[in-house]
Amino acid sequence: SDTSLKDAATTFSVGTITRSSWVNAGGKHTDILKKEFSNITSEYEMKMNVMYPSQGNYDFSAADAMVDFAQANGLNVHGHALIWHNATPSWVVNFAGTNAEFEAMVKDYITTTLTRFKGKVRSWDVVNEAFEDGSGHPLRNSVFRQKMGDDYIKKCFQFARDADPDVLLFYNDYNMASSSTKRAAMFNLVDDLGDLIDGIGAQMHISYNGPSKSQIQSLADQVVAKGKKLHFAELDIRANPNKDITSLTDERAQEQRAKYKEVVQIYNSIPLANKFALTVWGVRDNESWLIDFWGNADWPLLFDSNYNKKAAYFGFLEGL
Ligand code: XIL
Repeated sequence: SDTSLKDAATTFSVGTITRSSWVNAGGKHTDILKKEFSNITSEYEMKMNVMYPSQGNYDFSAADAMVDFAQANGLNVHGHALIWHNATPSWVVNFAGTNAEFEAMVKDYITTTLTRFKGKVRSWDVVNEAFEDGSGHPLRNSVFRQKMGDDYIKKCFQFARDADPDVLLFYNDYNMASSSTKRAAMFNLVDDLGDLIDGIGAQMHISYNGPSKSQIQSLADQVVAKGKKLHFAELDIRANPNKDITSLTDERAQEQRAKYKEVVQIYNSIPLANKFALTVWGVRDNESWLIDFWGNADWPLLFDSNYNKKAAYFGFLEGL
């Protein structure tokens, strides 16, 4: 059949990432966005280093191109990410001013950004990846923590909530299925934020052989128990985590298909009130960030480099 992902997923949005150059170019990428997906996320152009490159000088040109494309085609936009230690411009890292001036700058950044996209961006990751991976998962000692204090995350959520009472606010982080201790640190934050946070973004950078089904199910169950929306964000499923294949074998493609099915099934089974979106982190295998990140060949996505549907694509549909 020729059912699209978004038509098959009747109770939640199906998302992927895009770039301003791709929506400006049109062609096969935008055809797939329009046909298959109902939610777009900017891969890197709605992060602070791009939107606020120098003090007093905002640049929303790339964000505007993607948001305009979404508006024209009836797609939701998930804003990713206001505060991330890995996408902080150097002028902010080396901020010249008092702590009070720093906090006022952050408030202006969040307020300006959310106000600009009010009614056009449905949801924002307010803070991304705030916790260390190491023992106890302390807060990373980012410039935000150093200058605004241990409650900097709550302050950022409050600035966002004040700027737009209707937009959905998320905290987003990785290893949420594989690490129960990191999940516990995240849930402490969620308890502290209370009504300021609408949902939890669980980055799903996983592999065909793990985390296990029960680990992913526990994550989903615990978010539901917290009464928050769940975003299965940044889904990609490595087929080659052990570097044991040089091309995507049929056997591995089927294992990957089964894992996509499992993830979608778990997501599709949570209560409607907790559903939000499931977002894959890329369209074509050859465009996946994982290839650079891990430095080896992989085929983690739903479409091959020629935009053909892979077994993984059909696994996604089978999960619905
Ligand atoms: C990555 C993008 O895919 C890259 O293009 C960019 O250079 C760096 O960021 N966790 C996140 C995403 O929250 O924003 C990251 O995206 C991948 C890891």
